[in-house]
Amino acid sequence: MRIAITGSKGQLGTALQAILTEEDLLLIDLPEDDITDYRHIRDRIAEFAPDVVIHGAAYTNVDGCEEQPELAYLANALGSRNVALACQACNAAMVCISTDYVFDGLKGEPYWEFDDPHPLSVYAQSKLAGERMVQSLLQRYYIVRTAWLYSKSGNNFVNTVLRLADQRDELHMVTDEVGSPTYAPDLAEAVAKLIHHQAYGIYHFTNQGTCSRFEWARRVLDLAGKPDYRLLPNTNYKRLAKVPAQVEIRNFCGATLGITLRPWSEALEDFFK
Ligand SMILES: NC(=O)c1ccc[n+]([C@@H]2O[C@H](COP(=O)([O-])OP(=O)(O)OC[C@H]3O[C@@H](n4cnc5c(N)ncnc54)[C@H](OP(=O)(O)O)[C@@H]3O)[C@@H](O)[C@H]2O)c1
Repeated sequence: MRIAITGSKGQLGTALQAILTEEDLLLIDLPEDDITDYRHIRDRIAEFAPDVVIHGAAYTNVDGCEEQPELAYLANALGSRNVALACQACNAAMVCISTDYVFDGLKGEPYWEFDDPHPLSVYAQSKLAGERMVQSLLQRYYIVRTAWLYSKSGNNFVNTVLRLADQRDELHMVTDEVGSPTYAPDLAEAVAKLIHHQAYGIYHFTNQGTCSRFEWARRVLDLAGKPDYRLLPNTNYKRLAKVPAQVEIRNFCGATLGITLRPWSEALEDFFK
């Protein structure tokens, strides 16, 4: 297959390259290729004539998006539109990676693919705007929502906890933010399987189960050989962006194709192997 990957230097993009070794790849990322430049991105992708474009590029700093909403919409909404237009120009299918944060977390049970979104932050609103542009421009699209991504390389929660634990004697971590940690290589594997099915639509791919940031950090420290490290609960942390207190997305549609992800704790153990 001929596959273009946007955000190729990011966590998912890097994991995809490790899996799609047999495919013909076009790698798209800053500074060479900017998805906000409509003409450039259309020509670059159309020239390669991919079968599918996996669109992972995004402005992913959730608090940064609150401070810079125009940048958020430029990258996450218009950038996704531009990639969709490029797919239209060369008749490629598109995988648009999105987020569980399109939900407000108030449902009280897992969200499945048929639930209506209600985003709370600029990041989530701009990602939902991107989803909608893709849906309005293309027929052959997969929207893949995921959550709390981490990988060996990359600016993520796991690497931050490990770094801070080396620098400080104790850490405070929130107990009132609950989600599904998702190992980027597991998501990449699920996406690599999905593109072989022409079953277009919305998918929810995260590692299974949920935990609080506190529980996640505790597990990271234990697996890193620091079971006695002082990790303290914090319920007063105020971040700039409003994020769902508790959100779990249920993989219903992917499971019907036989695509499932393992529990988050198993994936985290693999990270440390
Ligand atoms: N990370 C998470 O916890 C999480 C959770 C749910 C959903 N997602 C979604 O999953 C996808 C992949 O996430 P990730 O963690 O792999 O992201 P990431 O590591 O932040 O990678 C995103 C990549 O996109 C690039 N990029 C940003 N703006 C661009 C532009 N205008 N043109 C071209 N490239 C651009 C970034 O470059 P720079 O680094 O130079 O900006 C970066 O290399 C994203 O769509 C994200 O919204 C992520």
